[in-house]
Amino acid sequence: MISQPSIETEYLFALCNSGSEKALKLEAESQALGWRQSYQRRGFVTFKADAPFSIDSLDVALGTSRRLCLSLGKSTTREAAIERIDATQAASQIHHARFHDRKMQSIQPDTPAQRPTIGQLIGTIVELGPTEFWAGIHRHAPFLSPDPAGDAGIAMPAESPSRAWLKLEEAARFFDLEFTANDIVVELGCAPGGVVLALLDRGASVIGVDPAKMADVVLASAIPLREAAPRDQAWFFHCRKPAALTSKRDLGQGVTWFMSDMNQSPEVVLKECTRFCKMAPSIRGVLITLKLTDLSQVAEKAQWFASLAALGFKTQRLQQLSVHHKEFALLALK
Ligand SMILES: C[S@@+](CC[C@H](N)C(=O)[O-])C[C@H]1O[C@@H](n2cnc3c(N)ncnc32)[C@H](O)[C@@H]1O
Repeated sequence: MISQPSIETEYLFALCNSGSEKALKLEAESQALGWRQSYQRRGFVTFKADAPFSIDSLDVALGTSRRLCLSLGKSTTREAAIERIDATQAASQIHHARFHDRKMQSIQPDTPAQRPTIGQLIGTIVELGPTEFWAGIHRHAPFLSPDPAGDAGIAMPAESPSRAWLKLEEAARFFDLEFTANDIVVELGCAPGGVVLALLDRGASVIGVDPAKMADVVLASAIPLREAAPRDQAWFFHCRKPAALTSKRDLGQGVTWFMSDMNQSPEVVLKECTRFCKMAPSIRGVLITLKLTDLSQVAEKAQWFASLAALGFKTQRLQQLSVHHKEFALLALK
């Protein structure tokens, strides 16, 4: 463990999607953190509590927060904000974010930065206007984004049949997930195939469940029968039926991940997740995208975590995606 100076602050701040500020406050309340909302701008919420905050106060998982920092205060220039971070003598890197084009966005450096190491203290400057620069500091931890505003800024390839490609890539980058040639992923709601394309490009094989038609770009890797799966290359098997009609035989052996991108309620998706995990006990990871019609549903996450915990998944996380305002990635790992 790296020895770290003790920093205490009166406030902390969270960066979030513009329009998710209320849901963020609700989520913090539902976790009984004792935080009181203070100053707020679009995509930026500060909190206060009875006692000062320390770096350990940031060890809370809030799905609507894209980055959580101890607040070192507000300055009128970027340089003055950097000085606030430098004065802590603790941060080994400074990240920059800004509210621009109606979004809280990362300002990516010209040369891509390395993913911070676990335990590393990172300074963040948040530009909210021409004379409003907030300085913050946080500790990098597992399942935290390496990007200042939690948005990967990844460009989707032209051949992707849907924007779902971005959802998979953003979740993989945020949570630091790897999918390799050793993985077989079952994805419910796979058509037209953006997620399947991203997984195939990463070398993983996919069993896609969906009654709808797939795009040609993924059908190029399709196999006619699950039993015909080759061992030396990534393949795609289209199980062209609704999730509820999929059987153990369709899955075969060796499925490692359950994914769902079905446009269904969390209850329906989690019911199917339970059924699939029972049919394929080799599943060690779950990644579900949930479209919340009402963002306040985020306060129900404890129930979703409980149903995943009952299946033996020890780690659960919920994270709002930057690529779609209403969508959250629900992750569970054994
Ligand atoms: C958002 S789209 C999925 C996008 C897809 N993941 C991609 O990467 O392009 C939602 C899909 O869920 C499918 N779907 C909805 N209910 C389903 C069910 N009960 N079983 C299987 N697929 C379902 C729909 O047919 C639709 O294609």
